Amino acid sequence: MKRLAVLGHPVAHSRSPAMHNAALAELGLAGEWSYEAIDLAPDELESRVRAMEGEGFVGANVTVPHKGAALSLADTLSETAREIGAANTLSFAAGEVRADNTDAQGLLDALPASPRGQRALVLGAGGAARAAVWALLREGAEVDLWNRTALRAERLCAELGGRPVATPEAGAYELTVNTTAVGLRGEDPFAELPLESAGFAAGQTVVDLVYGDRPSLLLAVAGEAGAAVVDGIEVLVRQGALSLETWTGMSAPLDTMRTAARK
Ligand code: ATR
Repeated sequence: MKRLAVLGHPVAHSRSPAMHNAALAELGLAGEWSYEAIDLAPDELESRVRAMEGEGFVGANVTVPHKGAALSLADTLSETAREIGAANTLSFAAGEVRADNTDAQGLLDALPASPRGQRALVLGAGGAARAAVWALLREGAEVDLWNRTALRAERLCAELGGRPVATPEAGAYELTVNTTAVGLRGEDPFAELPLESAGFAAGQTVVDLVYGDRPSLLLAVAGEAGAAVVDGIEVLVRQGALSLETWTGMSAPLDTMRTAARK
């Protein structure tokens, strides 16, 4: 059996096992490959990852809070992972751990159109924000970055580019990407984030990486105003598809993955 996993803490809520196992079945690989969730505390990550190839693992996705540590422990890094400073995809072969980042391209793949030339606002300064800023700049967008803790936004922009902003201009952005945790526990995005519900309109795109069983309040309001909306599940599907292609060399069945991730 070729094994795959998602490593996180907590990880029980992850939709990745259902999504990847459905994809493996669709590809006719269900008897040969399997994907599981493994909860690892930060101090267990490195020794467990080192042991995984010996346990039959071919690769793993890495999620909160391990994306930075995954990069540090890897033997080889893709250029994307190195530049972003975070990894969400590990591959194990010949005793080596290779780290890659598919969050960046996954975000771009989830957008309805290329962000080239667009004014973009990214909210947050964690690992997901790093991937978003890197991807949007590389694609030719102009990126403003806001974070609750301004110093973190300044540091991120000093490293990756983009412009830290204290007060984003309402209605000025063709693309808004929320990478903060706001909304995860029902917080009001219009109270916690520098966004105005009246600032959204047709012609804009709003991405919210937060996902749950129902559309986030941010996406509900933006969609109501006519903006194109992309939720966290679509981004999860797109990054997962790229990881699966890295491990299997096969093209990932997007619709099957979407259906399984949304259940
Ligand atoms: P990840 O790696 O998933 O991006 P992270 O490093 O834990 O996660 O970052 C979480 C982000 O959510 C941060 O940008 C955090 O802001 P701070 O840097 O100021 O902590 C943001 N965040 C969490 N709760 C928030 C809230 N109530 N209001 C605004 N931002 C919030």
